[in-house]
Parts: sequence; C-alpha cells; structure tokens
Amino acid sequence: MEMITCGDPSFVLGGIMLTLGIESSCDETSIAILEDGRKILSNIISTQIPIHQKFGGVVPEIASRKHIINIMPVLDEALKKAQVQLSDIDQIAVAYGPGLVGALLVGVSAAKALAFSLGIPLLAVNHLEGHIFANFLSHPELQPPFIALVVSGGHTALVNMKDFNSFSLIGQTRDDAAGEAFDKVARLLGLPYPGGPQIDKLAKTGNPSAINFPHALMDKQNYEFSFSGLKSAVINYIHNAEQKKQSINKADVAASFQQAVIDVLVYKTIAAAHAAHMKSIVLAGGVAANSLLEQKLTAGCREHDCKFYFPDKILCTDNAAMIACRGYYQSLHGKYADMRLNAVPYLELTDINT
Ligand code: KG4
Ligand code: ZN
Repeated sequence: MEMITCGDPSFVLGGIMLTLGIESSCDETSIAILEDGRKILSNIISTQIPIHQKFGGVVPEIASRKHIINIMPVLDEALKKAQVQLSDIDQIAVAYGPGLVGALLVGVSAAKALAFSLGIPLLAVNHLEGHIFANFLSHPELQPPFIALVVSGGHTALVNMKDFNSFSLIGQTRDDAAGEAFDKVARLLGLPYPGGPQIDKLAKTGNPSAINFPHALMDKQNYEFSFSGLKSAVINYIHNAEQKKQSINKADVAASFQQAVIDVLVYKTIAAAHAAHMKSIVLAGGVAANSLLEQKLTAGCREHDCKFYFPDKILCTDNAAMIACRGYYQSLHGKYADMRLNAVPYLELTDINT
C-alpha cells in the first residue's frame, strides 16, 4: 500500500506548537488544543453517561452514533474556546486504542481527515499512555522517572516510566480491571452506572472492616493483580444473605470491597517503587478519582519518602488533553502515524524504548 504521510514534521522544531487531541474510545467525545504539550488552551468533553445509564453500562452501537453526532460540535467548541483557527493547528493526536472499535473509529477517521486536509502530521496515541500523561498537565514540574499505577475501567497496570518515550510494564491484572470490579459490584448493589463513583460515595458511610473480602495476590512477590475472585466473593456474600433472608448493609459491603481493592493496589505500587528505587509515584486512569486510593497512596508515599502525583479530577476521566500531551511527546521523537492508521480495540500497554 502506498504510504501517505501528512505534512512535513520538520517545522516541529522551533516556535509555538499547537497540538489538537481527539478522544472517543468509550463514552466521552473530547477534543483539546494544547500549546507546547503542557498548556491546555481548551479541553472540551461531551459525556454520554446519562444516555448509557438507563442500560446499566455503555451500549457500543449507541456510543458510536453519539460520537458521530458530537464530534464536529465538540471540535468547533474546542477551537472557539482556544481562540484559534483550524489552520493554526500544527499536528493531530488521536487515541487509536484500546476501547470500543466503533467508538475509536469515529475519532481515528476524524483525525485522519483533519490531518490530510490540513496537510499536517498525525500521531497515534495509546489511550492508556494518555492517562499517565494527564499528570504532566496537572503538575508542570513533573518529570520521569517514576512508577505509574494505571487503573481504569479496562486495565490495571504498573509501569516503570524511565523517560517520556521509554517505559516498561512491570505488572498487570490477570483478569478483571479494578474499575470493572467497581462497576460490577455497584451493579450487584443496585447502584447506577458508572459504579466507581457510587461505591466511593456509599463506602464513606460504611465500615471497611465489616466483611473480610479476599486480597488476591497480596502475599505474592510479583506486581500482578486479580480482582475476579473478589467480585465472586461479593456475589457469594449477597447470595448467602438472600438465601438466609437476611438484609445486607450495602454501605458495609461497598466499604469492605473498596478496602480490599485499594489495599492491594497501594501495597503493590509502593513495593514496585521501592524495588525500582523510585522516589515518585504517579496515579492514572478513571479509578484515580477514588478518594480512598488517593488518601492511602498519599499516606503510603509519605511513609516511604516518595512524592505522589495524581491528576486533577477532570483529567482522571477520559479526555483529549491527555491524548494531545502524549502525542506531543511522541512528536518530539518523530513518532508519527500515517493514513493507514486504524483503530486497535485490544491495544495493550507494552514496553517502549525509543
Ligand atoms: O479511564 P476511564 O474513564 O475509562 C477507561 O479508560 O476505562 O475509567 C472508567 C472507570 C470506571 O470503571 C469507573 O467506575 C471508574 O473508572 N471510576 C471510579 C471512580 N471514578 C471513576 N472508580 C472508583 N472510584 C471512583 N471515584
Ligand atoms: Zn480511560
């Protein structure tokens, strides 16, 4: 296939660089414009949560259709808020995976069309790397190296980030992601989608020591996680109570479940930083908004003399500013995509060394 490149990346050197980011991997349509990689001029996020809430989760077909409807108005708003024209944009960064294929394709197609028509470079961004880079937007002083804990709806991973374009995966979940476990347990408790924030809120009124749920792989000397057994333990607990016609205290279940998840995440993250002689820990992904996780990692880092960074709440959720930030650092290493770019729904976090 003929390779069609988009524009001449050589202009990247010198002058102000405007990167336009596009994010459409799940149920948020977002477009952002960044100046020189770390200054947000605009970050418009159009969420579909109220639409999917009545189905108890994201309906992929509906998500794709809504992205198609939303993407142009979101683009217009992002340009207006940043007070720039499309012709001012220097490069386009887009999340091409992981996520829902139909949803990703809307962003990828828009990004390719914009890059081609404007004659500017295209950058293909791993959504999970984007979550880590959200921290560079919230903390202007932050520099690698650090250990990052990535906790989202689909992934739970520990990453050793040596440099902006050099990192290695040191462990991940063997089954369910932490966010997925939060969402499933919330559903069992009859709480609306997305379940994470609901459990977080309900747990504040419960007793975290009420039920002794399993802390999987806590004693193992590795950096892997497993949350499916914990989810089953919650299901069993609820079913047992139902069979005995006993009522359950939902706040206690939420608090005890949350405690079990957070205990393992915090223990393994601190252990990974310790083993790698790393003095900074960074939290990333949707579950980074969890108040107990923030509280426990703050305390753990203080105890182990580590600096702890987490993104502003609005940057924990899926957003295009983090995608543009990641794309900007890829552009500094000349890591451009071309017009063959496609959505990769099962894209993983892998070692990168450039
Ligand atoms: O990163 P994200 O916005 O989407 C993915 O890339 O998956 O993460 C969404 C996940 C959902 O599972 C949601 O329930 C969870 O993040 N989440 C939370 C909280 N806020 C969002 N989980 C626990 N506590 C929260 N406060
Ligand atoms: Zn995400």
